[in-house]
Amino acid sequence: MADETKFSIRINGEDHRTTAGTTVAAALLNNGFAAFRTSVTGESRTPLCGMGICFECRVTIDGVRNVRSCIEPVRDGMEVETDG
Ligand code: FES
Repeated sequence: MADETKFSIRINGEDHRTTAGTTVAAALLNNGFAAFRTSVTGESRTPLCGMGICFECRVTIDGVRNVRSCIEPVRDGMEVETDG
């Protein structure tokens, strides 16, 4: 049976709910965030590969910039910031 434990995380300063065992990228997408960062040419970027290769899903987590959200599991109380 899947772990249905709910976590609270902050995304861009607002509280959101997510499920234990999911990635930060999945939590962002499930909470309606599609633009994770902005490219140097001003384009919104979103996860592409979903397995840690393309670096398109980078966000800031607990003050650490450029974390690949597709391979980072959610933790209760974590703070996530997008710039997309
Ligand atoms: S989506 Fe490609 S590294 Fe995360």
